[in-house]
Amino acid sequence: MPTITFSSPLHKDKTVYAVAGSHRQTILELAKEHHIPIDFGCGNGECGTCLVKVWRIDTQTPPLANPLTEREVRVLKELGKITQTEIDRMALDDIAPNEWRLACQMVIRDEDLLIEYPSR
Ligand code: FES
Repeated sequence: MPTITFSSPLHKDKTVYAVAGSHRQTILELAKEHHIPIDFGCGNGECGTCLVKVWRIDTQTPPLANPLTEREVRVLKELGKITQTEIDRMALDDIAPNEWRLACQMVIRDEDLLIEYPSR
């Protein structure tokens, strides 16, 4: 069962368990379930309010989770958090190219993660 640690300079760190193998639950859904105050707006990958940094706890590298959705790519590009080179690389590697994600779009998989918020 993956452990997800939410870390913020504004709140005490909190570690929770995610449902193993659900492959549907987003970071934002898990945060809401555990009353972790990640800011959000649209909940649909359009506003960028739920911007977070995500790291694998064991390797301190970006997660192996689902590649960025088209909406994430558009919003992260607008926010200057992803480059065209990284987008091109993601198309080949099929994994997220860096640590920036939208909490409402990233689906949790079976890996232990550190989620940093707010990340602006
Ligand atoms: S809440 Fe709007 S992009 Fe996630």
